[in-house]
Amino acid sequence: MKTSLVATLESNCKEIFYTQVEKSVEQQIEDFENAMTHVLGAPHVLALNSGTSAIHMALTMLDVGPGDPVICSDLTFVASANPIMYRGAEPILVDCDHTWNMDPKLLRAAILKSLTLNKKPKAIILVHLYGTPANMHAIMEISKEFNIPLVEDAAHALGASYQGKPLGTFGEFGVISFNNNKIITALGGGLLICNNDASVERAKYLSTQAKDSKPYYHHREVGFNYRISPLNASMGLAQLSRLDREVNNARNNYQLAWEELSHYPHIGWQLCPEGAVANRWRWGVILQKTDPLRLETLRKALVAQALPVYRMMYPLHKMPIFENCIKELNGWGQMFFEKGLVFPGQIPSEQLPGILQLLDLNLREY
Ligand SMILES: Cc1ncc(COP(=O)(O)O)c(C=O)c1O
Repeated sequence: MKTSLVATLESNCKEIFYTQVEKSVEQQIEDFENAMTHVLGAPHVLALNSGTSAIHMALTMLDVGPGDPVICSDLTFVASANPIMYRGAEPILVDCDHTWNMDPKLLRAAILKSLTLNKKPKAIILVHLYGTPANMHAIMEISKEFNIPLVEDAAHALGASYQGKPLGTFGEFGVISFNNNKIITALGGGLLICNNDASVERAKYLSTQAKDSKPYYHHREVGFNYRISPLNASMGLAQLSRLDREVNNARNNYQLAWEELSHYPHIGWQLCPEGAVANRWRWGVILQKTDPLRLETLRKALVAQALPVYRMMYPLHKMPIFENCIKELNGWGQMFFEKGLVFPGQIPSEQLPGILQLLDLNLREY
């Protein structure tokens, strides 16, 4: 007997295969892009095959090349910084503040240091970790003051906003991921948000093998095969109808956790800057009195009860591939890693009490 999940998947696939197949390939992708344009209020978007490709395209469009310094958040998934390496450029890793995102003071210090070496950073890759907005006001000011373009890595942050404006739409480029674990998925895919029409046209040309308009294959530039597949675009479009529900569910879960646990004075939370609304794709706690050994014991206890839990991101500067990079640190990312546990926002409501109960029991000691 089929489960309802299989039945739903089957009916989605039928719709994609049998109904949408009559549309042209490009039309299926455009439908997804139009829907994303509507959700983001951003007219210039390009659907690609991953968020990583979208960051790579952004750096390519900004003409980042070998040896160029590029600033990046330190507390993030490796995909935020890998495209810097693809371009042969040099990451400058910047630590975080109470939002768990790039600290504006450290960003300024990193820029000034780079300028004294006569190397102006070519771009700032700013991550909105776990769907919580960075301190956008201060970071936008710095980006403008030094005239360094901002690439917003909003891979986690679809549905989150700052002063009413969706994340990903502030910078010269913005990036969203539709990877399998994101708030909604296309089973793989990414979105590049550009701040003008010319950029999106050029990104489309470069991401579809940089074909010149001739009746035969002819190329003046090296392109990429980065366009999303129509199947993934159709999946993304189908999933978009769930976005509000998923975000509301994640926010409610976070709210309940906060109500239950915020009276513990030694627990730290990811703070939202004023005027910002997080999507709570993930939420976490910093157990200020714990140490890595006890943290791991607690994590294992949660896992043993089949409760979903992750360790905090491991700061990039600690990874062997980035150990020689320039960095601007305050030690917060490292401390968050050693004391932080992270939970998925989209858990079924019956799992939340178990997590909160176990945390509550342990927090007296931790
Ligand atoms: C912060 C961040 N940036 C970028 C990416 C890359 O997205 P994708 O997996 O779609 O390539 C991810 C991936 O999950 C991510 O967590």
